[in-house]
Amino acid sequence: MTSKPDNKSSDTPSNTKGQEMWGGRFSAKPDAVMEAINASIDVDQRLAEEDVAGSIAHAKMLAAQDIISEDDLTAILGGLDTVIAEIREGKFAYSKALEDIHMNIEARLKELIGEPAGRLHTARSRNDQVATDFRLWVKTSCSTRLDQIENLMRALLGQAEKHADWVMPGFTHLQTAQPVTVGHHLMAYVEMFSRDFSRFADAIHRMDESPLGAAALAGTGFPTNREMTASELGFDRPMANSLDAVSARDFTIESLSSIAICAQHLSRLAEELVIWSSAPFSFVRMSDAWSTGSSIMPQKRNPDAAELVRAKTGRANGSLIAMLTVMKGLPLAYSKDMQDDKQIVFEAFDSLDLSLQAMTGMIETMVFNKDNLAEAASGGFSTATDLADWLVRELNIPFREAHHITGASVKAAEDKNVQLWDLSLEELQSIEPRITKDIFDVLSVDASVASRQSYGGTAPVRVREQISLWKERLA
Ligand code: ARG
Repeated sequence: MTSKPDNKSSDTPSNTKGQEMWGGRFSAKPDAVMEAINASIDVDQRLAEEDVAGSIAHAKMLAAQDIISEDDLTAILGGLDTVIAEIREGKFAYSKALEDIHMNIEARLKELIGEPAGRLHTARSRNDQVATDFRLWVKTSCSTRLDQIENLMRALLGQAEKHADWVMPGFTHLQTAQPVTVGHHLMAYVEMFSRDFSRFADAIHRMDESPLGAAALAGTGFPTNREMTASELGFDRPMANSLDAVSARDFTIESLSSIAICAQHLSRLAEELVIWSSAPFSFVRMSDAWSTGSSIMPQKRNPDAAELVRAKTGRANGSLIAMLTVMKGLPLAYSKDMQDDKQIVFEAFDSLDLSLQAMTGMIETMVFNKDNLAEAASGGFSTATDLADWLVRELNIPFREAHHITGASVKAAEDKNVQLWDLSLEELQSIEPRITKDIFDVLSVDASVASRQSYGGTAPVRVREQISLWKERLA
């Protein structure tokens, strides 16, 4: 779909041409500020493609049901063809006085084809029209986000496969906890984004019904065929209640909540990239394409894209709260409050669009530093749990006591400023006499990660299983 959000409408506020559509009983023109607050064309011109698609479906149905003539249908379809071509070519003159995309298009259609244009709005209202256009837009945008999430998952999968057995520190409280594999860490995000994927997919499924034909709120006396317009527009079914059809905006709220959760996952990953690419960590190097320099400190490489992805969570959360608040307490059916939904929703979809693309680019191109990761993985006595587990397994010592013995061993290593595996057997035996030289088999970082073979664990063999499962799913 083409969208031209910055193609601003023109004309002076005193124009009365919008009133031609509804001003039959009005004697004075609207106040200039009334027109400014009422007009939505600068925002909803993005729905032009959907609006024309909805009108085509509606007109075809009206003709099929003998509500309009075949000649009228031919004129309407020809006119709409010209309108959408003008819009795509940027030649369409949007007018604020005509309020919104629906009236702008209808007015232009009337200029082009005359009387038949006036028959298009039979058995329809702007209320079901806007609900239909917006649902179509949100549904299409959700499925674009599905593709983008899959691309990000593929990028993560590619890096996970390359680094399935590289070690890095696993953290809790951002303190070194236990070593993990880089592949395992990245696959955690594959799981998170797969849930985001299924949230959008669920939302699409629920919004897959057409409001068109609900008319203003009560349905219509014309012999319409709502199944026909629903299927023409690619909806699974028509909405079953006309009041609900024109009032429901939970499809936006559900997709905004999916956006907010996805943005939140992106921000966690972005934060990790910021930390990992910092000089003290130096776990990864972000590519030039996704970094910026400092105008004063030549040595710096700033992870701006990651920081901006982290920041955009604010917009996503803001949009969700804004939309929940706009809809709160609105009586059935349509209220003009609902016109304010589009900017909120467009902004959230747009920022997720950029974030997903930027994150995919950063992940695809970042380069891990094996030595720094391995060095950090062995820091902080990261294999202390392995020592304790060995005492439990081999000497049948209760875990709590093993924990205590391990603490004393860590203290001994710390006092000598060495790693656990640098302690001599005698030193370890002075803490617990039953310890044998076999303990050294479990103290290394590689041994530690290789041993964690429980389902979902960090061992390279488990990680590779998950990677091949996901490769099949995403194939
Ligand atoms: N521009 C309006 C909107 O976006 C279209 C519906 C107007 N309906 C009405 N009864 N004024 O909500």
